[in-house]
Amino acid sequence: MIFPEKVCPVLYYHGLYIVFWFIVLPKHKYLSSYRQSTLLDYLPRGMQVAIKNFAKELTVMKKIVISTGGGDAPGLNAVIYAVVHSCYRKGWEVYGSRNGYGGFLDIEDMVRLFPRDVEGIYSTGGTILGSTNKGNPFSKPVKNLAGEIQVIDISDKILRNFNRMGFDCHIAIGGDGSLAIAHRFAEMGMPVIGVPKTIDNDLEKTNRTFGFDTAVSTATEALDKLHSTAKSHNRVMVVEVMGRDSGWIALYSGISGGADVILIPEIPFDIEEVCEKISDNELHDKLYSIVVAAEGAITIDGQKFNKGKGELGREEVILGGVGEWVAAEIRKRTEKDTRSLVLGHLQRGGSPTTFDRLLALRFGAAAVRFVEGKIFDHMVALNDSQMVAVPIAEAIKMRKKVDLSSDKVLTARDIGICFGDTDTRGQIE
Ligand code: F6P
Repeated sequence: MIFPEKVCPVLYYHGLYIVFWFIVLPKHKYLSSYRQSTLLDYLPRGMQVAIKNFAKELTVMKKIVISTGGGDAPGLNAVIYAVVHSCYRKGWEVYGSRNGYGGFLDIEDMVRLFPRDVEGIYSTGGTILGSTNKGNPFSKPVKNLAGEIQVIDISDKILRNFNRMGFDCHIAIGGDGSLAIAHRFAEMGMPVIGVPKTIDNDLEKTNRTFGFDTAVSTATEALDKLHSTAKSHNRVMVVEVMGRDSGWIALYSGISGGADVILIPEIPFDIEEVCEKISDNELHDKLYSIVVAAEGAITIDGQKFNKGKGELGREEVILGGVGEWVAAEIRKRTEKDTRSLVLGHLQRGGSPTTFDRLLALRFGAAAVRFVEGKIFDHMVALNDSQMVAVPIAEAIKMRKKVDLSSDKVLTARDIGICFGDTDTRGQIE
């Protein structure tokens, strides 16, 4: 039997010393404060970092933090579940930062997560950690003493606390905004892995984001229900769905839910063409029509509909209003009974579908594998049926738009759905 302490006692005891001071002590809730006063803290910064890294290599234990940012999406809890369970099986510690980066600013908002804390959450909507779309740490608006709004950068503080708390990696679950923030932290030296979330499905470099399938199912179910009431009254029903500047939700739910017209931001629409389609339906004895309008749909004159800037700290305008406008124009031009409704946040609520649940669980488990492989500043992505790593910078370069030559758009046109443009393929001569 070879005893390492006998072979090289100096290396052995120094190794133990380093592991104790830099791994055991900092991770211990009560003893960690004593770390402040170790002699090694007086060493030059570079040397401290080198010793720390060396010590980390000696241990397999890792400390991971997860955060959920931006608008919630069904499947967030399933990602958290998969991360917690995967890490637990490796003997790693997992923490959750509440409300985006909240846990890095207030220790009360940094919560240790054990399997018992995430029991059964894979099937629930929302996020147990809370989320915000007003929390960009690089430009945070705060009120100064004079009551004026000042924009400050608190990213240094967050990075410092990330290092002080001894985390090895941050798994950031979010859409393009949250991932752009995570990427900036990665550039500052924080080991980050991104997980693509958004009901809008507008992230590049992944076939799908989780949350989208659930939103589409909810919208399709709503459309199914509208048919009977629209038919009973020979009405036009205009349904506004979410999706920001991409028409994915409108396209998928519109085709599956039997819409006559689908308006998406990728195809500017002419209201005359929309009315033409409704009249054409009448001519062919279909006395009711269903119109699905993506909230980001634009008229051929470039008119876009929004409800203003929204809350302090929110970077984007609140989209909305197109459904109401389209309904009013249809009523005016065709004199048909027309009603509009906004599906809104219903699309973000409820349990994730099986597809989203499975995708989210796969994303979470893959993210932990990426931590092990040190594939930082990358996002987990679905490519065909595989989990792959793509640089976050690539994923956030631009928003994924509906491809107008895709089979889905062609299918819609072939079965007679109008996009409010002059392409009349599929319409009865
Ligand atoms: O990005 C997701 C999303 O639901 C968009 O589809 C929508 O425009 C936006 O968030 C709504 O944001 P909020 O919940 O802040 O109103």
